[in-house]
Amino acid sequence: MKEKGVAVVIGAGTMGGGIAADLANAGWTVHLLDQSVELAASGKMRVVKSSPPLLYLPEYAERIVAGSSEELSVCGSADWVIEAIAENLALKQALLTRLESVVGPETLVTSNTSGLSLTAMSKHCGMAFRRRFFGTHFFNPPRYLKLVEVVPTPVTNSALLQAFIAGMEARTNHRVVVAKDTPGFISTRLWITHLLDTIHTAIEQNVPVEVVDALTGPALGRPRSATFRMADLVGLDIIASIAKNQYDALPDDPLRERLRLPEKLNLLISEGRTGQKSGAGFYKRVGKEILALDWATLTYRPREETITEAGNALVETVVPRFCDYAAAIAGEIAESHEAIDNAMCWGFGWEKGPFALAGNAPQKPAYPALRQEQGTLILELRGKLNVFDPAQCDAVIAAVDEAERQGLPLVFTGQGPCFSAGYNLARLVTAMEQGDLVGIEADMKQCQETFLRVKYAKIPTVAAIHGYTLGAGCELALHCGRIVASPETVLGLPECAVGVIPCGGGVKEALYRFGSAQAAFEAIFFNQNSTSAHEARKRGWFRPTDGIVANADQLLTEALRVAPEATQPWSGPDREPGKVVLPVTLMGHDRRIAQALAWVLTEEKTTETALLARERAAFQQLAQEPLSMARMRHLLETGKPLRN
Ligand code: NAI
Repeated sequence: MKEKGVAVVIGAGTMGGGIAADLANAGWTVHLLDQSVELAASGKMRVVKSSPPLLYLPEYAERIVAGSSEELSVCGSADWVIEAIAENLALKQALLTRLESVVGPETLVTSNTSGLSLTAMSKHCGMAFRRRFFGTHFFNPPRYLKLVEVVPTPVTNSALLQAFIAGMEARTNHRVVVAKDTPGFISTRLWITHLLDTIHTAIEQNVPVEVVDALTGPALGRPRSATFRMADLVGLDIIASIAKNQYDALPDDPLRERLRLPEKLNLLISEGRTGQKSGAGFYKRVGKEILALDWATLTYRPREETITEAGNALVETVVPRFCDYAAAIAGEIAESHEAIDNAMCWGFGWEKGPFALAGNAPQKPAYPALRQEQGTLILELRGKLNVFDPAQCDAVIAAVDEAERQGLPLVFTGQGPCFSAGYNLARLVTAMEQGDLVGIEADMKQCQETFLRVKYAKIPTVAAIHGYTLGAGCELALHCGRIVASPETVLGLPECAVGVIPCGGGVKEALYRFGSAQAAFEAIFFNQNSTSAHEARKRGWFRPTDGIVANADQLLTEALRVAPEATQPWSGPDREPGKVVLPVTLMGHDRRIAQALAWVLTEEKTTETALLARERAAFQQLAQEPLSMARMRHLLETGKPLRN
């Protein structure tokens, strides 16, 4: 896959649209074709309106051009043509035959089939075409699911395939697993068999659905949707159809009989209880409550998640059976055990694939929070959402001290799904409610001093950010010499929504970055956390030297690469005091917070010390307001902002 190219995606449905968005995000021009221009245009419209968004920025839609597949001449000059039409072998074969006569001599052609044989699909085509043909199985929605299974046929040119994979991993946010051309490839083959085996076992051993889910979700290092909630999300009818295809295509599969649907499942489907889309499946939402299916009566009853011995016995049966199954078919579906584990982790968000689960895979070393790699120190922020508190500040200071002592650059990263979600709100609100102004002052001062220490460190500093980079997390990043961001970065200073203002130097840095008090006011007061790093950059949070990696897995590598140059001691220009005009519509407590923020931004002396002192003073004022405490408490307890 080259850096910038022209792609043609045929089939503007769920997957075609998602893949088109992915390539547009990577800077490609994409022709999105369907049976008519109108169908293609409505496919493009679904991409534009998707929620969560498939595009990093709405304007990337301009890179997608809708067209009709009646007219395939655009394929002549395309670098890559992706077939994403309905899952039907004859239709796909017919399309490939048409494509063969129009594509350029170097054009790659791939199919997004989720399980059909690529060899069978291309069997009517000539050898020159077949050498440039393989499967690229994306997952839905492509932007958010990392795995792409790449499926060569026995005649696919391997040099071409390797170059494609390297390009894909460098230029998109996907990781590739090479799968053999067998039914369901790696991911679907293992997932559907394991799923149905678990369902059969739950019915046979009479283990309630919610107990199975309590044991097969995070407890096993898997997403909360676990087994039955995941089945409801996918749709029981879709599961039935995948299982039937796999059953028919795999006469010698060691767990083939488990692919037959249990009678109870057939009954649910025949009654239209196909899962979330129909309102009922293994679970049913009634008002605010989610009820669970009762195996005996197939009616719904309140959930009872007590872990029973039968539940544990189920896990002890199905997990080892799954691991044995993976080992038995490994050679048939993949080149390595690692590929199989990666497919399950990247495709389904599991922490461990079957080989790691069975304890046969090398364990990742447990790193200390501060470690050295390639002549650079790395401090990994840790804890629940890696929030800041005095201990986290101490760790940052100690890391800077150590990096200066050794004369090495310092990179900050966050463990787990985010960089840092901000300052520890529970700690703050407790202090606020107790009227502990001395404690609040000490915490805020420490935070400011920590980030200043980073800014004026005698060594280069890089913030390698991903996921939530909010509040104090964002402030740390703003004080580093360089930011390197993962594409999926949620960045912002949302403090006003919880009744206060940023107080770790965030207001000061925003003033320097946005250039005017008014612009900084608007960026902070009307903060909308970015939905991608591209959006954060567009809003003005990044300097020209800050960068975004295409693939999240490259984040640390890139941070280490730029670290030696990340020496920009970026202090703000002294400027004339600015003005802030508050919107007339601002009322009540919102107006009070806005006034406090404006007061900081219109400080006459725009030196760091003066601005920081004002941040603290304004924060202290707001921290004494019952309405601010209520906002913070509400967010902590409900996860939602309160406008009071
Ligand atoms: P879909 O039904 O949403 O979209 C298919 C689109 O192809 C429709 O817009 C249809 O009008 C168009 N189409 C059909 N025949 C055509 C032709 N001859 N020329 C041009 N356009 C044509 O289907 P979806 O879900 O997007 O699936 C597409 C492919 O991706 C299938 O092979 C499917 O198995 C595979 N897949 C689907 C996943 C999913 O979660 N939906 C996941 C991974 C793969």
